[in-house]
Amino acid sequence: MVVLPALFTTLLAATTATAASSNTTTSSFPSTLNITTITAHNNQSALECWALDPGYTTSAQAGVSGTAMISLGPITGNASNILIPGAYDGGRHNAPTIQWVIFLSGVAHITLPNSTDEAWVVGGRNGAILALDTKEVSAEGHSTVYPTQESTLAWEVPLEKIPGHRVLHGGACVVGEEF
Ligand SMILES: *[C@@H]1O[C@H](CO)[C@@H](O)[C@H](O)[C@H]1NC(C)=O
Ligand SMILES: *[C@@H]1O[C@H](CO)[C@@H](O)[C@H](O)[C@H]1NC(C)=O
Ligand SMILES: *[C@@H]1O[C@H](CO)[C@@H](O)[C@H](O)[C@H]1NC(C)=O
Ligand SMILES: *[C@@H]1O[C@H](CO)[C@@H](O)[C@H](O)[C@H]1NC(C)=O
Ligand SMILES: *[C@@H]1O[C@H](CO)[C@@H](O)[C@H](O)[C@H]1NC(C)=O
Repeated sequence: MVVLPALFTTLLAATTATAASSNTTTSSFPSTLNITTITAHNNQSALECWALDPGYTTSAQAGVSGTAMISLGPITGNASNILIPGAYDGGRHNAPTIQWVIFLSGVAHITLPNSTDEAWVVGGRNGAILALDTKEVSAEGHSTVYPTQESTLAWEVPLEKIPGHRVLHGGACVVGEEF
């Protein structure tokens, strides 16, 4: 268990690919962050692509002033760092609590018992998802398999409430919709 008191309490700072520039402005940033979400409808888990709302604003925070920031919502409880070996089958399960799951490495393949929708989450820049299908809202949950030989490093960050969002569409976000 790793407790992360300040890191996630407010904001994620994004940086542009032009790391060499010492004067980054927000003009080239997208309006918001699109996130693959495991939600639930009618007691069944479902995948959706959500746009966080409100979107990016220009930060005045020391150290990242002038860059784009977006709130990841209020957190609660202990955040965890999880090491998952390669070729691991997590089985069918519910989200233990509403939470961010931030995959930093590896590949997670998420499937649903009552839908052909699926998500391939590659650790790294587009590795954050929202897992909200707790047993209170989803009878059967979802399944997660880690099919590659690479081990997966994931951070789970429990949320106090579901972040503000707009539903873009059913199914996972696709390439080009994230960052
Ligand atoms: C950064 O760029 C903006 C827009 O081009 C300019 O107005 C500002 O003066 C620059 N700031 C620095 C510290 O160079
Ligand atoms: C967080 O972890 C600590 C230490 O393991 C534990 O005592 C505490 O109950 C946990 N808090 C929550 C909300 O789970
Ligand atoms: C969902 O799928 C499970 C397993 O395939 C099946 O037992 C169950 O009846 C299905 N539930 C609904 C509501 O379709
Ligand atoms: C969801 O399904 C489970 C298992 O069938 C059932 O026990 C539970 O009452 C259902 N919950 C809701 C909110 O419908
Ligand atoms: C998020 O999705 C919206 C709607 O499809 C799109 O306009 C926007 O560019 C996407 N954001 C990113 C960062 O790709």
